[in-house]
Amino acid sequence: MTLVTDVRLRRVLDSRGNATVEADVLTEEGGFGRAAAPSGASTGEYEAIELPAAEAIAKAREDAIPRLVGEVHAGNQREVDAALAAADGTDDFSGIGANSAVAISMAAAKAGASVTGAPLYQHLGGTFRGNTFPIPLGNIVGGGEHAADATDIQEFLAAPVGAPSVSEAIFANAAVHAKVHDILIERDEPCGKGDEGAWAPSIDDAEAFEIVDEATKAVADEVGFEIRFGLDVAAAEMYDEDEGGYVYSDQVRSTEEQVEYIADLVREYDLKYVEDPLDEDDYEGFADLTEQVGDRTLVCGDDLFVTNTDRLGEGIQQGAANSILIKPNQIGTLSDAFDAIELAVENAYGHVVSHRSGETTDATIAHLAVATDAPFIKTGAVAGERTAKLNELIRIEDNAV
Ligand code: PGA
Ligand code: ZN
Repeated sequence: MTLVTDVRLRRVLDSRGNATVEADVLTEEGGFGRAAAPSGASTGEYEAIELPAAEAIAKAREDAIPRLVGEVHAGNQREVDAALAAADGTDDFSGIGANSAVAISMAAAKAGASVTGAPLYQHLGGTFRGNTFPIPLGNIVGGGEHAADATDIQEFLAAPVGAPSVSEAIFANAAVHAKVHDILIERDEPCGKGDEGAWAPSIDDAEAFEIVDEATKAVADEVGFEIRFGLDVAAAEMYDEDEGGYVYSDQVRSTEEQVEYIADLVREYDLKYVEDPLDEDDYEGFADLTEQVGDRTLVCGDDLFVTNTDRLGEGIQQGAANSILIKPNQIGTLSDAFDAIELAVENAYGHVVSHRSGETTDATIAHLAVATDAPFIKTGAVAGERTAKLNELIRIEDNAV
């Protein structure tokens, strides 16, 4: 019923103005799905390989499409993703490009869903899904690799943990974003934005903590529910062995100092979430921090785990982190992302479904989060390519997809 009849690939723009891969998958019975690959800037060393869009498209046309058209069913995600892996022939999708792979994988899922008429989250997660919603982590202030001359810490994220609905949570994050703008104006700070729509002022991290703390508290008072905040430190980007540790604008912190610094921040600001507080090779440092503050905050591995079951397995063994970021393009297919989620859930690790800094209006991750009962989703607070996912969550909650 969902036999693939055609796969079309093209270069489209992403939110940074770079070319990315968009895929259309067509099936018997008139099935159709379209999806586009996102792209990271602070990418992990162990991620699946993204090829230049034109090259990824050429390779996929040559090697993958012949294994899909007339051969696999879009409704059978494992079959589609196994064909992609076989066509690629490497263990990191460097053959056809993880960008071609993930675009085709997600487009196939949408095509499969379109034939049955089920919403994508239900196609992916089953009929009992769609009742629990992730808490959106909204990027409010940031720097790192996402903006020049801004904070060292890559992202300060609002976490509206007390919101009674996903839509109220989403609007609370937008209100925190607006409140930070007011505070920056009051302080006479310029208000440029980074790649994900977060404010990117030339302030130091200490001032950013002060501002985001004030803004989340003010909005929490207005909306009447708890809003905490969290961080993506993206520490792998700061770590420099030759410099002796984590290079901040004003100092270098050794691994021990970094663990202590982050643990102190968690306690001082009652942080709900800390992503990549240590380097992507430092399972031990992650375990150390998790031991200290893992009972009161989510310690999340992004560049550490790269949505990879082998790396997550190692982390579970060592007690490194207590949650995992899930980015389908880090691993190449939806099936691989599901495997990572399953392993996480079996081991009581939370999973946080995430966008990339380079995005399109593709909203697949909103469905993936609902389909897998993700406790959190990280997909920005404002900007069109971010609101595409947030508004899709609102529609899912409203039973309107
Ligand atoms: P990236 O950043 O998409 O540039 O990798 C997002 C993140 O680090 O979580
Ligand atoms: Zn990250």
